[in-house]
Amino acid sequence: MEKIIKGGTLVTEAETFQADILIRDEKIAAIGKDLTAEGAEVLDARGMLVLPGGVDPHVHLSLPFPGTVSSDDHYTGTKAAAFGGTTTVIDFANHDLPSLVDSFHQWQEKALPNVAVDYGIHQNFTRFNENTLKELAALPELGVTSIKMFTAYNGRMRLEDGEIFQVLREAKAQQMLSLIHAENGDLIEVQIAEAVKAGHLDPGWHARTRSAWGAVESVLRVSALSAEAGNAPIYIVHMNAGGEVDQLRYARAHGIPIYGETCPQYLMFTDEALSREDGAKWVCSPPMRKAADREMLWRSLEDQTMNAIGTDHCPFLYNGAQSIRYEDQDYCMPGKELGKDDFRKIPNGLPGVGDRMPVLWTAAVNSGRISANRFVQLTCTNPAKIFGLYPQKGTILPGSDADLVFWDPNKEVQYGVKVAKHRTDYNLYEGMMLKGYPVKVLLRGKTIVDGEHWSGSRGSGRYLLRDRFRD
Ligand code: URP
Ligand code: ZN
Ligand code: ZN
Repeated sequence: MEKIIKGGTLVTEAETFQADILIRDEKIAAIGKDLTAEGAEVLDARGMLVLPGGVDPHVHLSLPFPGTVSSDDHYTGTKAAAFGGTTTVIDFANHDLPSLVDSFHQWQEKALPNVAVDYGIHQNFTRFNENTLKELAALPELGVTSIKMFTAYNGRMRLEDGEIFQVLREAKAQQMLSLIHAENGDLIEVQIAEAVKAGHLDPGWHARTRSAWGAVESVLRVSALSAEAGNAPIYIVHMNAGGEVDQLRYARAHGIPIYGETCPQYLMFTDEALSREDGAKWVCSPPMRKAADREMLWRSLEDQTMNAIGTDHCPFLYNGAQSIRYEDQDYCMPGKELGKDDFRKIPNGLPGVGDRMPVLWTAAVNSGRISANRFVQLTCTNPAKIFGLYPQKGTILPGSDADLVFWDPNKEVQYGVKVAKHRTDYNLYEGMMLKGYPVKVLLRGKTIVDGEHWSGSRGSGRYLLRDRFRD
């Protein structure tokens, strides 16, 4: 059946205008004034902004961590995404098996039956050898056109510089984008060992032992490797330090196709959060930085330097000894308490996929720091473009998937764990007053969120075969 969204104000990456939207066969069929279609269901959007469904290019669902697993799985995390106005997520497949392709299929088996919004998969590349290098060529046919490499987590996920160089060169040959987790692994190992030896075990030391300078030099180092690999495209995930933004500009000025992503937590907090009594809630890698770093990240949103906002969503319960209720069932899983006596054992990661759009609307758009169009660009359109999903996702155009969000610009919400739909026992933005909120969410034309009502379902999200990288 056709649907018409009538009377809304459309907000895209480029413009804001009043128009109706005709939806047919899961797609946007037409956009225009006073549209009619006999028999079509009319959705009244008067007084509402209509945004494209959000695209979160960086989530971790069901991610194992020593002794536990992140508390949002592919169902609960994508449901939370939908309630926050996000209808597409890109998850990361661990490189758990020797083969990259087998690792992808193993992850896909976990994801596909459970997802409630559409999704893609980035493949982690953490086991370098001649076979895995050759295997890269097989990933694009599986819809995997981006890989993630780490310059930290020595002995576990890190690749050496020479290895990164070879993967970058091959990824470029396959028209794939390389995502980089940029920190200085060697420095981190030494600084952690020294902190522990000195008896510093509280959560604040998580940030003190993961150097901002290390992140900055790592962005420059990988930019250099990209240049040597023939200007291989790179995307720096979860940018957190102000100096990283400088490196982004420097590399770009030298012709390197480099993209930057930051996350709400780096825009909203500093490392002071880790010194709170419940500081473990803010432990993620890389850590939050200083107020000056935070300000440089904000400026990078304003001056167009930053390309995308993802979340790095990867929640753990704060008190995993206590069960929580989720969809009328008890849920319990070890969480942040694993590290109560030792910051090294705190599961790294925090909730965010449902918070990203409502929190940043208030903090970034209402505050006047960025326009609503730039907001859409950072949270919807650019992630879709960069990761081979545009114009199917991330925009409002005839032919695009009818992933649409009714955004009530006047709705006021006191935000927190009871409002957000993540399967966890805390929210970083507890008590924050929000103005402007997603009140209805359509996934391919079907309403999946209507106020507090959930009509999405486990397994109804689709796997997205992403296009190869294009500059
Ligand atoms: O602390 C975090 N961010 N955990 C997820 C893994 C990663 O490096 O993105
Ligand atoms: Zn990372
Ligand atoms: Zn991550």
